Amino acid sequence: MKLFLDSANIDQVKEIASWGVLDGVTTNPSLVAKEGKDFKETVLALCKLVPCVSAQVTATEFDDMVKQGEEYASWHKHVVVKVPMTTEGLKAIHYFTQHGIKTNTTLVFSVPQAILAAKAGATMISPFIGRLDDIGEDGMGLIAEIMEVWHHQQFTTEVLVASTRHPRHIVDAAALGAHICTIPYEVFKKLPQHPLTDSGLKKFLQDWEKTKK
Ligand code: E4P
Repeated sequence: MKLFLDSANIDQVKEIASWGVLDGVTTNPSLVAKEGKDFKETVLALCKLVPCVSAQVTATEFDDMVKQGEEYASWHKHVVVKVPMTTEGLKAIHYFTQHGIKTNTTLVFSVPQAILAAKAGATMISPFIGRLDDIGEDGMGLIAEIMEVWHHQQFTTEVLVASTRHPRHIVDAAALGAHICTIPYEVFKKLPQHPLTDSGLKKFLQDWEKTKK
C-alpha cells in the first residue's frame, strides 16, 4: 500500500519524506488555504519532494474544470488533477483520461460513486472515511464494500483511503487491500511510535554503557 501525506505544508512533507516512506501528497482547497501560500508555488515545491501530488480544481462546470486541470497538469508531471465527484466532474475525468492526464476523484462517499468514477477512467478515487464516521456511518465499511467490488471487476482505478483520523484506519485500509492511504501529519507522526520500542531502546543503551566500565 502506498502512503500519502494529506497536507500542503512543505516542512511537514519534507520531514515525512525524509523517513523514506512517502509515496505522494494530497492537497485540497482547505489545506492550501490553511498555509496561506501561492498555490502553484506550493504544488511545484511538493512535486520536487514526492512523485504524486493531488491538486484540486475549484471549478464546478466541465469546461472550466478542464481548463484548470490542464493548466495544473502542465506545471509538472507529478501533478494528479483532483476532481470532485459530480456529474460535471465525471465528464472532466473522462476527458482528462482520454488526454493522458491523471486524476483523483475526491469526495467519494458511496459505492455507486466509486463505480462511476472508475468507469469514467479515474486514476484513483478518494472515499472519505472519517467524514462518514463523523455522521455515524461506517467509513471503513465503505472501503470493504469497494474492495469487494474491485475484486470482481476489472477496474484499474486505485482506491485511496482518505479522511483518515487515527493509526487503526491505516491498518484496516491495508488489511482490506486498499492501494493508497492518505494520512494527516499528526496521525503520520504517531505511526512509528510504540512505548515498548522506547523503553526497549533505553534499556539496550543503558546495558551498553555498562560494557564500557
Ligand atoms: C483527501 O484527499 C482529503 O484531502 C482529506 O483526506 C480530507 O480529510 P478531512 O475529512 O480530514 O478533511
